Parts: sequence; structure tokens; C-alpha cells
Amino acid sequence: MSVEVPKNHVLLVFGATGDLAQKKLLPALARLVRKGKIGESPIVCIGRRNISRDEYIDIMDVHEGTYAGAEQLKEQLHYYSVDIKEDDPEEFAQFIQELSHDHNCNDNLAFYFALPNVLFKPAADFLNAGGLLNGPGDKKVAFEKPFGQDLESAQELHEQLTQLFNEEQIYRVDHYLGKELIENVLVFRFANAMFEHIWCNSCIDHVQVTLAEEFGAGGRADYYDTAGHVRDVVQSHILQALALTAMERPASLDPEDIRDAKHIVLNQLQPVTSENVVLGQYGSGKVKGEQVNGYRQEEDVPADSNTETFAAFKTYVDTDRWQNVPFYVRTGKRLDGNYVEINVVLNDISSQLFEEHPQLANHDVIRIRLKPDEGIHIQFHTKQPETRKRLELTSMDFCYPCTFGTDTPEAYESVFHELLKGDHTIFVRWDEIQASWRFTDTLLQTAVQHDYTFPNYTAGKGGPEAAINLIEKDKRTWLTVENKRE
Ligand code: BG6
Repeated sequence: MSVEVPKNHVLLVFGATGDLAQKKLLPALARLVRKGKIGESPIVCIGRRNISRDEYIDIMDVHEGTYAGAEQLKEQLHYYSVDIKEDDPEEFAQFIQELSHDHNCNDNLAFYFALPNVLFKPAADFLNAGGLLNGPGDKKVAFEKPFGQDLESAQELHEQLTQLFNEEQIYRVDHYLGKELIENVLVFRFANAMFEHIWCNSCIDHVQVTLAEEFGAGGRADYYDTAGHVRDVVQSHILQALALTAMERPASLDPEDIRDAKHIVLNQLQPVTSENVVLGQYGSGKVKGEQVNGYRQEEDVPADSNTETFAAFKTYVDTDRWQNVPFYVRTGKRLDGNYVEINVVLNDISSQLFEEHPQLANHDVIRIRLKPDEGIHIQFHTKQPETRKRLELTSMDFCYPCTFGTDTPEAYESVFHELLKGDHTIFVRWDEIQASWRFTDTLLQTAVQHDYTFPNYTAGKGGPEAAINLIEKDKRTWLTVENKRE
């Protein structure tokens, strides 16, 4: 398979000593270098810590035993310590310009801000003061999510940043859009008549989007405790997955057409009502047989924190295609497993003719599984042998790694690659961000009307009781680890 190699850029990664850089960004860059996908572009890791390049490599454990490609990554890796409040922007700019010259980058610069969003503007000002945002060559900037804390702060951030960059130069990251299975939703729906023709309210009973994690929020409390789960994953990953599932056929595969189609869905999402939203926070419990702390006992979390670690809600997409089809979302930390899925549940027509069918999840389901075991799984009815009316749920599977091998791109690998290629398809446009914040701001305002007593769910289980009632009062059930037919 031929790989598109973008023109050389100096790639500057801000926030390069953080957890995200260590766990996701550096391994993704190593994969890109190993596969020859970014040519000889130098990678400059930037952090405040005053350490040498070798110390950086040791601290971040960029070693072959840690992940494949680490040795090759080192050959392209630089470290530069910067304090944006104290240091001389021109000295920094000179270092970058020399690097660009030495590696034939023609002043093409890609800035990746893996920073808290309050630092986006100061970091951009620092680059601007050194003259790095102007002059010849392409200048691109990627911002890690969340973009703002709510609609108002996002608006302010947008106004500040668009004084320095135009929308063409901006890449708002949601790494879920770089996941192979998320990119496949578009193909699955619009390249296959058998799915697209049933993708509407006459055949679909409801849709469930689940992002469940077994691990807690420990170690990231400085960020997570101020953000909470809704701002952390609903505003971005969940709503983007929902938009791709529900959007109309885009006019073309042009990034703007795809983003237009997603924007319509985000704009048409119906605000949640108070009886259709539940927040939660985990208490202590057992995960895989091991006793774990409750959220309030996690490192750096205040003992009286009211931050939510779970959210469930029901909404509707107000378009012709989706009239009366509920979209249920369930997401949280310290749940009963690590799985991310979009479950499209079809109308149950079996009971019109057959009496005996399984009690739970008694529907045909199209399951798009983002993790683990990425793939598409179709659950449908068959007859049990030697019976006429007794039904059994069975399945057909498309297993992504079985078909395409295990070296498929990781989400952040695609994020960096597309950034350097200059393709906006897997990045979020400003109007999508606005619509998403509008929805989650309202959701949070509505949810606080409930007087929650946290913690309200046990670690390692399926979430708060109220979240189970949220769907069961509609005579439906969550497709959880226990009741899915695999
Ligand atoms: C991040 C969130 O954006 O996505 C984390 O900040 C979450 O809280 C993570 O755990 C999930 O990403 P993935 O790719 O591991 O499913």
C-alpha cells in the first residue's frame, strides 16, 4: 500500500512532557517515522522542564523496548525547553528557522498544542512574537480538546486565536475522528445500500452510543476534576460519533461537505430534559477482582468533589430521517468494561410471527465497535435447530484486524499525518464546536437540577441505578457486557 508522505515540516509539539505526550503522542510519532509517513520532518518536543534531549528521552522512556519505532523516532527528535513567560521568543524562533533550513522544510511549520486551553493564546503569542506565524511556508496549528470550558469561553478563545490564525490554518483535534472504525462509519453507511436503506426511523428503533472505561480518573485530577466527564468526552468524542452516525449523505467527500453534514446533526440535537439525564460519580468497588478507590479518594481529588465521572442521557435528532428515534448515550469511568460502541438497534419484528425469543436485547443490532476488537458486528435472529418458532440471536462479524492486519493506524497517528498533509476531514470545525458546547452546556445546566448524592455508583459495575431506569422506563435496555450477544 503506498503511503502519502507530506512535504517536510518542522513539527513542534507543545506540552511534550505531559501524560498525553508520553502515552499517545510519542508512540504515534514513532509509528509514523517507522512507516516512513512523515519523511524527514524534524520533531521538536517542547516543555518547560529544563532538561537535555537525552534526559527527555529517558524521562519519557523513548526506548525500543517501550514501543516499536522508538529508536527511529529518536533520530528525528529534538527537545527544547521553553518558558513562554520568561524566554526570548526570537532565540527560539531562530532555532526553529535553522532546523527548517537544515531539513529542507521551507519554513513549513506545524504547531501541536497539547496544552490546557488557557495556554493556547499565550503559546500562540510567544510564537507570534518570534515571527514564526508569518513569512513564507505553511503555518498550521492543532489544538487538543477540549476547546474551551463552555460555549462562552470557547467563543472567547476562538476570537483570540483567529486574530493570529485563519480557520484554514486551524486543526481542532478530536482523536476519535482518527480512529479507523469511526472513519469507516461514513463508508459503511454510504457505500452499502443494504445499510443506508434501513438507516432511518422506519427500520431503526433506537441508537445507543457507549464509551465505557474500567479505569478511573486517577493521575489526571488537575485537569479532570475541573472538566468533568461531560466536557471531557461527551462534548467531543460522543457527539462526533453521534453526528457521523446520524448525518445525511454529504454532497462529496470534501472535508467541508462532511463537516457541513455533521454540523447539521449537532445543530438539530434536541436539548435533554431533566428526566432524561443522569450524572454519576464512582465510589469504591472491585474492578477485575481488585479493590479500587472511589473518585473522591483518588490522588489530588478534593474529598468533597462533585465532579461527574459518568453521564447518561437521551436525546433526539430533529431531522426527517430520525423523527421519534431516541439516541441514548452512556459513558463513564470505572464501569464494567473497556468498550466503545455505536449500537444501532432495529425494530423488533420477530414477535409479529414468533413467540419465543430471548428476553434481553431481543433485537437485531448493528454494532460498530471502536474498541476493543474493532469491527462491525451484526446480531440477528435465527431459528434454533429442530424447532420452528424458537429464536436464537446469532451474529456475523467483520473483524478489522483479522482483515487488515494489526498494523492499522492508531488514532493519533492519523491525527499527525492528516495535519501534516493539510486535510481537515478528521478535525472539528468551529461551528461544530459551537453547536456541541451549546448542547453540553444545556445538558449540564439541566442535570444539576437533580440533587445528586455522590458517589452514586460502585466502581466496576454498570453505572447509577437511575441510568438504568432512564432507558428501562422506555422498555429498552442498555447493551452492556452482560446482556450483549457476541
Ligand atoms: C480522552 C479523554 O480524550 O479520551 C480521556 O480525555 C479518555 O478521559 C480518552 O479516557 C479515551 O480515548 P481512547 O482513545 O483511549 O478511547
